[in-house]
Amino acid sequence: MLIHKPEDIQEVLVSATRVLGTTMPYREARLQAELLLAHTLETTRAMVLARLNETISPELAAPYAANVARRAQHEPLAYILGHQEFYGLDFVVDRRVLIPRRETEMLVLLALQRVQSAPRTSPVIVDIGTGSGAVSLALAHHLPSARIIATDISVDALAVAQLNAARLNLAEHVTFVQGDLLAPVAEPFDILVSNPPYIPRERFKDLPREIRVFEPRHALDGGEDGFDVIRRLLAQLEPHAARGAVAFVEISEEQGKTALELVARQLPGAAAVVHRDLEDLDRVVEVKLPFRMS
Ligand SMILES: C[S@@+](CC[C@H](N)C(=O)[O-])C[C@H]1O[C@@H](n2cnc3c(N)ncnc32)[C@H](O)[C@@H]1O
Repeated sequence: MLIHKPEDIQEVLVSATRVLGTTMPYREARLQAELLLAHTLETTRAMVLARLNETISPELAAPYAANVARRAQHEPLAYILGHQEFYGLDFVVDRRVLIPRRETEMLVLLALQRVQSAPRTSPVIVDIGTGSGAVSLALAHHLPSARIIATDISVDALAVAQLNAARLNLAEHVTFVQGDLLAPVAEPFDILVSNPPYIPRERFKDLPREIRVFEPRHALDGGEDGFDVIRRLLAQLEPHAARGAVAFVEISEEQGKTALELVARQLPGAAAVVHRDLEDLDRVVEVKLPFRMS
């Protein structure tokens, strides 16, 4: 009978780092090995590092090895950990939703700046394609008096968003509705935020396996040229906009020029500008809707 000597935490981390190191640089592999172990031990990374000489039981070593194997197969770390931080808040994520990205925090920032520059007692903010609820819930956290409506075409995504709303004690501040873009929204919006699917179809094959295989296709696929959803959203803005409304729509770094051309063609009279992100890349198109005579 083969009896395995229990390994200590340092040994386990060294072999996990070796496994992960086949798919990523060493420093990243070691960090992720530590984060995955903290997750398995239900503790913090700091505690893992403080316990390097302690042994790990086979009951914990086995699920840890399984999680390391998942990561080595390119499953995103956030899906394995089940969490992702966004705008300082902790979101539950799984394969039903896109993992919220750092660059999307810009939508929150721009909407908050807009509220500050044009204060209204209770602005109506809509988040189109809310996914995990990251953008709408971050806004709700900072704007308790805003009326926030979040939509998604995916019932599965909305279930995750609602779970996050409950965990963050924000369920009373955001109304989640299922449907296509603005169709399920009855109230005119003051501010619209959206991170829609915008990856051109032909680029899918070049995406990292983490994204291509594991993240929901309907969250990413922007059709032939990447603008299918954005074009339809632009077409719906005017009839749903309140007086003085503004829309912030995330785009990819190479889409700024085309986005401005689309706005000029589809919404003559609107003023549009592209905001660049912290890496100085085109990231969000802002559309100030023209005043409607009613
Ligand atoms: C890029 S993800 C953004 C998720 C989240 N807002 C974020 O930034 O992390 C796009 C989201 O739009 C949703 N979606 C795709 N097509 C849609 C449509 N026609 N109407 C509403 N939501 C849509 C997807 O289900 C997905 O949750």
